[in-house]
Parts: sequence; C-alpha cells; structure tokens
Amino acid sequence: MTTWLEGRVIENRHWTDTAFSLRVAAPPLRFEAGQFVRIALEEQLARPFSFVNAPHDPVLEFYGIVVPEGPLSPRLARLRAGERLLVASNPAGFLVLSEVPDAETLWLVSTGTGIAPFLSILGTETPWARFRNVVLVHAVRHAAELVYQDLIRKFSKERGLRTVTFVSRESSPGSLAGRIPTAIMDGRLEQAAGLALEGNVHVMLCGNPDMLKDAQAALAGRGLRKHRRRTPGHITVESFW
Ligand SMILES: Cc1cc2nc3c(=O)[nH]c(=O)nc-3n(C[C@H](O)[C@H](O)[C@H](O)COP(=O)(O)OP(=O)(O)OC[C@H]3O[C@@H](n4cnc5c(N)ncnc54)[C@H](O)[C@@H]3O)c2cc1C
Ligand SMILES: NC(=O)c1ccc[n+]([C@@H]2O[C@H](COP(=O)([O-])OP(=O)(O)OC[C@H]3O[C@@H](n4cnc5c(N)ncnc54)[C@H](OP(=O)(O)O)[C@@H]3O)[C@@H](O)[C@H]2O)c1
Repeated sequence: MTTWLEGRVIENRHWTDTAFSLRVAAPPLRFEAGQFVRIALEEQLARPFSFVNAPHDPVLEFYGIVVPEGPLSPRLARLRAGERLLVASNPAGFLVLSEVPDAETLWLVSTGTGIAPFLSILGTETPWARFRNVVLVHAVRHAAELVYQDLIRKFSKERGLRTVTFVSRESSPGSLAGRIPTAIMDGRLEQAAGLALEGNVHVMLCGNPDMLKDAQAALAGRGLRKHRRRTPGHITVESFW
C-alpha cells in the first residue's frame, strides 16, 4: 500500500507559460536515478513524475508541462512556494542504469519532459564511470523548452557530455530541425553528435510514445533491438503516456 508523504513546495520555476519545475522539500526517499514517483494534491488524483534531482540531493525536483485539459498538470503549474504536495513513498521504474548493460556509448534520447530522468542520471557518478561517451538528445517544439541549459552546460564542461537538440516548430540556430527518428535514418543525429549510433551502444528513450515507437523502428534499421533481462539488447524505453 502506498504511504503518502507530505512535501512543501520550495519553488515553482516557470520556464515558459506551460513548462515548470517544482522544487519540493519532503521526507527522505530512496530511489535510483531515472525512476519516478507518484505525486498528488489529493491522493485520489496522483500522476507519475520522474525525479530531476539525483538521489543524493535531498530537495526533490520535478519538471512538468501543462496539458491544458489534463486534470492535474494545470494545478501543479499553479502551485506556489509553501503549498503542500503529496509524494508517494514508493518510487519505481526501470529506466535506470542498473538495468543497462555495459557499452561504449550511452545515448539518452528524449522529447519534452522526457529529459527529466536523464538529468537525474547525469547528476550521478555512474554514467561517467561506466561509459566512454555519453550523449544527451532533447527534442522540443519551441526553443524556449530547451530547459536546464546551465546544468547541461556544466555536465558538458566538467564531464564531457555531448548534446544534440531538436526544435521542431520554429527555426532555431544550433538545433536540428525536424524529428529524432528521421535524423536517425538520414544520419544527421550521428553527424551532430560525432558518434556512431550502432555497434557497442546503449540507447535510453523517454517521452512521447509515438517518438519511442518511431525511434525504435529507426534504430532497428541499425541493428539495435530492445533490451530485456533474458535477451540482452541495446534499447531501454519509458513512455510518459
Ligand atoms: C513513468 C512516467 C513518468 C512521467 N514523468 C513525467 C514527468 O517527469 N513530467 C511530466 O510532465 N509528466 C510526466 N509523466 C506524465 C504525467 O504522469 C501526467 O500524465 C502529466 O503530468 C499530465 O497529467 P494530467 O493529469 O494533467 O493529464 P493526463 O490525464 O495524465 O494526460 C492527458 C494527456 O496529456 C498528454 N500528456 C501527458 N503527459 C505529458 C507530458 N509529460 N508531455 C506532453 N504531453 C503529455 C497525453 O496525451 C495524455 O494522454 C510521466 C508519466 C509516466 C507514466
Ligand atoms: N510545447 C508547447 O508549446 C505546448 C504549449 C501548450 C500546451 N502544450 C501541451 O503539452 C503537450 C505536448 O507537450 P510537448 O510539446 O512537451 O510534447 P510533444 O508533443 O511530445 O513534443 C515534443 C517533441 O516531440 C516531437 N515528436 C512528437 N511526435 C513524435 C514522433 N512520432 N517521433 C519523433 N518526435 C516526435 C515533437 O515534434 P513535432 O513538433 O514535429 O510534433 C516535439 O519536437 C500537449 O498536451 C499540449 O497540449 C504544449
């Protein structure tokens, strides 16, 4: 049974009208980077959110977008410092490095809020200890949704993280146009990262379920298949809806 922990919002940062990050003080939670936890204003209406913070960071952080007709996300976006947020006591999820086999290059590929679990993973020592190359790919509709740039720049400078961004609904210098699966098929993603997307690689995918499907089909064309405990492969996915 889920126990609900009472958290308090420390800050609700608005990156755009619809994209927000909640920083929350709450009782300590044990989780692995990449996992999610259910959050709620009332227990009856809870939704899973991935941790942005690394497990050693005592302040919880969640990155969300307002789905205008959604029952919970517009209310989360309106939360103010000092207000209550319920956090379930049982984080879960398999988008974690302990489920990923060794490889030379780790590709972390996301759309929209799907970047959240990867920021948590990048905030730990594990990716840098286990993989020679780490690439973060983030695709958004508008350039203003390329969030957490300061943190990402820090990972690039201090850890050698490579990054590729896509902006699909306006032109944005420094970002690729279009969608991730097309750029896998035509070679633009590898060219932008300067690394191969085949062979000794592992790809973690997170975000829009249509992207997950299309990207897996494109990766299959490179000889990469889904990773399962019994049949090891190269792709691990988490769908946000
Ligand atoms: C494992 C897991 C982890 C998740 N982590 C996050 C997270 O870190 N941040 C986050 O914002 N959401 C995350 N979600 C989605 C989240 O649980 C909610 O669905 C979302 O906040 C919308 O809630 P809602 O009640 O307003 O609408 P819902 O009734 O939950 O969703 C309505 C519709 O909104 C769309 N939608 C839902 N979530 C998103 C999204 N993230 N981006 C774009 N469109 C969406 C889908 O079309 C969905 O059918 C996660 C979901 C899962 C399953
Ligand atoms: N982002 C906004 O400006 C905005 C504003 C208000 C409300 N919302 C709400 O937020 C939700 C959408 O959020 P979001 O923009 O973060 O997520 P999203 O719709 O998943 O878009 C994020 C990125 O994923 C891409 N994508 C979509 N389908 C794909 C596929 N099959 N293969 C590869 N890439 C794909 C999009 O490209 P395309 O652009 O080509 O689809 C975009 O670059 C909606 O419910 C919407 O109502 C969003």
